[in-house]
Parts: sequence; structure tokens; C-alpha cells
Amino acid sequence: MIDIHCHILHGVDDGAKDLAESVAMARIAYEDGVRDIIVTPHFNHGFLTMADVVHRKLEELERELDRQGVDIRLHPGTEVQLVSAAFFDEHRRNRSFALLGRPGTHLLIEQRWSDYDPGTPEIVQRLLDAGVTPILAHPERHPFFRDDPELLPQLIELGLWTQVSADSLVGNFGPDAQRYGRALIAAGHAHTIATDAHNVNRKPNLGAGMAIYEEMAGAAARTELEARMRSIVAG
Ligand SMILES: [Fe+2]
Repeated sequence: MIDIHCHILHGVDDGAKDLAESVAMARIAYEDGVRDIIVTPHFNHGFLTMADVVHRKLEELERELDRQGVDIRLHPGTEVQLVSAAFFDEHRRNRSFALLGRPGTHLLIEQRWSDYDPGTPEIVQRLLDAGVTPILAHPERHPFFRDDPELLPQLIELGLWTQVSADSLVGNFGPDAQRYGRALIAAGHAHTIATDAHNVNRKPNLGAGMAIYEEMAGAAARTELEARMRSIVAG
């Protein structure tokens, strides 16, 4: 399996605090059946993880995983918050953040926690026009998507993909996120499933999320989902 959203990079955001914790997370992911991880540190006002830092830290962690014999491949990425349209535009122009995987055909974006950014459709459209598919992190966790059932489908209609979190599906973010996450699967609106793991407690648990997906959508849909996620790193 491939995890496309994981805060496994050490010492850059509120994820793994050091190399030892990164390795411990990688071991948990490996035991769970994961062989590829896209590293996605936060890119927001609090943690502005620049692309060059992502690449440098990724190499450092890769060396350590090699040394310790943990057979996981790492791929670059970031989780870019739509702090504002201006924030996004400036950093995209300057190529400050890392797209997902080496092909760079996808970008993981996240809404603010306070409210929906009305500039989102325009940003989504511009990314698509540039050949980049935006993937929205855990929409099921945001009340404004749950409260307005038209909001997310309109973005999906444009070409946006969603990333539903395994933790939401198993109930770790409460009943509302669990219900909406499952509703997205039922509606065919869960394009990817990922962990958004931050440490060994909020840990990599992709297998649990994928099992729920398969139970709801069937084995053929799971195969399709896994192929879609793999295409992000394969180009
Ligand atoms: Fe995240």
C-alpha cells in the first residue's frame, strides 16, 4: 500500500519530532503493509516547510531507513493550507512547496480550520489548468463541508480529488467525521484514503481505513483506489 499523507519527516512540523520517531512510524507502517509513503509536512503560517527542506530531510530519513533495514520508499510532498488565495498564489509562484511525488502531477491542499475559503474553486481550476490535480485533505473533518452538502460535490465536479483519513473512518475524530467520511465512500467521493499520521500514537493505520473502504465499496473498487494512489508517484 501507499500512504499519500503522512507527517513522518522529523523535526519540521507537529509530526515526528526526531529521526527515531520517524523510523518508529515507518516500522509501524511497514508492519501494516505500507511500502511507499509520500511525506507531507505542513505548509502553513505555523510551519512553512519549504520544498528544499523536504528534499534534504527526506534524504536524511531515507539513509536512516536504509541503515536500519526498513524497506519503505519515500516520496516528496507537502500539505499546503489555503491560508488565503494570496498566500497560496505567492508560494506557488515561488515554488516554495513540494508537489506530491517526483512527477509532481498532484498537490495536497487543506482548508483553514476556521472557515471555508471562497477562493477555493478558482484555485482548484487554476491547478487543473496547469495539469496539477489538487487533493483535498480530510474534508470529512471540516464542519463547513458536513453542513453544506453541495459544497464539496461542486469542487469534485471541477476535478478535485478528496483524501479521506483512516482515523475518521474508524471513529477517532468523532461520529460526525466518521459518518461523513463513510458517506463520501458511499457516494463514490473518496478518491484516496490516507493516514495523516503524526507520531506513534496518532499512528500510521492505513490498513484499517482500507478495510472499511473495501467493506463498503468492494474489492474491485479498492484495487482501483490503490491504482489511483499509486499513479500519484508513478506519473
Ligand atoms: Fe496532515
